[in-house]
Amino acid sequence: MKVRELTPAVGAEISDLDINLMTGGEFDRVVEAWDNHGGLLFRNQNLSNDAFVAFASRFGELEAAPVMENGRTPVPGYPEIYVVSNVIGSDGKPIGSLGAGEAVWHTDMSYLENPPDASMLYALELPPAGGDTWLAGMSAAYEGLPDDLKEKISGKRIKHDGTFNSGGFRRAGVEVREDPRESIGAYHPIVCAHPRTGRPALYLGRRRLAYVEGLELPESEALLDELWEHATKSEFVFAHKWRVGDLLVWDNRATLHRRDPFDAKARRIMHRTQIKGATAPNAV
Ligand code: OGA
Ligand code: MN
Repeated sequence: MKVRELTPAVGAEISDLDINLMTGGEFDRVVEAWDNHGGLLFRNQNLSNDAFVAFASRFGELEAAPVMENGRTPVPGYPEIYVVSNVIGSDGKPIGSLGAGEAVWHTDMSYLENPPDASMLYALELPPAGGDTWLAGMSAAYEGLPDDLKEKISGKRIKHDGTFNSGGFRRAGVEVREDPRESIGAYHPIVCAHPRTGRPALYLGRRRLAYVEGLELPESEALLDELWEHATKSEFVFAHKWRVGDLLVWDNRATLHRRDPFDAKARRIMHRTQIKGATAPNAV
């Protein structure tokens, strides 16, 4: 098994490893690479639903998949597998979530008190173009902040909205409130320490309906705009072009991700699992 850095800020590719045959020693090296790089890419995998769930479970207890836009349980018999897809099922509804549009920068399920530590996405069917998934490294982004901005956010918390998913769709059963202070969500420290390495990272969640605790709304908006502009600069990001059989794992505490749109008439089917947060995100 080999580990190759993809960019200095985020991501490593693990090659010469068949996940179905992975040893305990190899898994330890996978976790070490993951802690160092925030995101991992494995190509040419061949994972059954059972093997996908078994691999994800080695990282920790799994979180049940969030409610899908179609209100259904994603994969019968696999409550942990979330389907990300635009494909229309026999009932005329998409079989998965997020459609074919852009998924804006976010980290998964940060509206929970204990958001998942990690998510992983496995490519089953892909459109001929578009649908790239991007990662941004939030440890590097934190380290690259100007000192005055570091000071400004020290000790502060952000409210993470739970109304809309990253595709811009309202989550089933949630009422829309235009004031971020009134929408549903959870507060987390803006700067979080990685649970294993202690390395600080910006923890921004998602921009829409976010709010910096204690500030007037216009000040909160201005500070958030400044932080988001910084955190998604090209020097911190990596764009992944998918092939069928790719598995991308990201640390939700140390990265953001987004997705490019693709042709709505093309088919894209991805399976996702999410690893439960062992703790709430910790302040540094
Ligand atoms: C996700 C997600 C992006 C993609 O599954 O959490 O943001 O590329 N997916 O489908
Ligand atoms: Mn996501």
